[in-house]
Amino acid sequence: MTIVYDDNEDQATDVPVRRIRFTVNGQKKIAEVEPRLLLAHLIRRGIGLTGTHMGCDTTNCGACTVLVDGRPVKSCTMLAVQIDGRAITTVEGLASASELHPLQEGFREEHGLQCGFCTPGMMMAATALLEENPDPTEEDVRWALSGNLCRCTGYQNIVKSVLWAAAKLRGAGSEAGEA
Ligand code: FES
Ligand code: FES
Repeated sequence: MTIVYDDNEDQATDVPVRRIRFTVNGQKKIAEVEPRLLLAHLIRRGIGLTGTHMGCDTTNCGACTVLVDGRPVKSCTMLAVQIDGRAITTVEGLASASELHPLQEGFREEHGLQCGFCTPGMMMAATALLEENPDPTEEDVRWALSGNLCRCTGYQNIVKSVLWAAAKLRGAGSEAGEA
C-alpha cells in the first residue's frame, strides 16, 4: 500500500527503521532496514552479494533463492526484517577459499549452465535438497527444482549436474565423473 501525506512542515518525514541481527555465510551482521525492504535487496544492495539474482520480483523464477536456516526461500518474497536472528546462506557461501562446492563442480562437469542467470537459485534449491536427501532420484531433483525457471531451458543438464553432485557428496565423485 502507498500512503500519501499532506506536506505539513511539522510532520516527521523520516522512514522508520528496524535493527536486525543475522548471519550471512557464517558472518555475523547487524543491519538497520526499512520494514518494507525485501531480503533480496538487503542481500544485493545492502551486503553487496550480487550472486543472488532477481529475475521477476514476483516469486516466479527462483533466481533469488537463498537458504534461511537451511531452507530454500525466494528472497524477493521475504522481508529483510524477517531474518532477524536467522542464518542466511547465499551462493557465495558454497565454495571454500580454495575449492568449489560439489554442486558447482557438477554444473561445470555436466554443462548445467548457459547464460548462468538462473544458476545461483538452482544451486541453492539443490543444496537444500541434498542436505535433506543425499541420494535423490531424477524425479526428486526435478521436484526440488520445480520452483526455479531456466529461460535458457537447460533443465536436462541442470538435473544431471545435481545428480553428479549428489554422487560426489556421497563419496563417489570419481564414478560420477566417469559417467
Ligand atoms: Fe524472486 Fe524471481 S526474483 S522469484
Ligand atoms: Fe540461462 Fe538458466 S542458464 S536462465
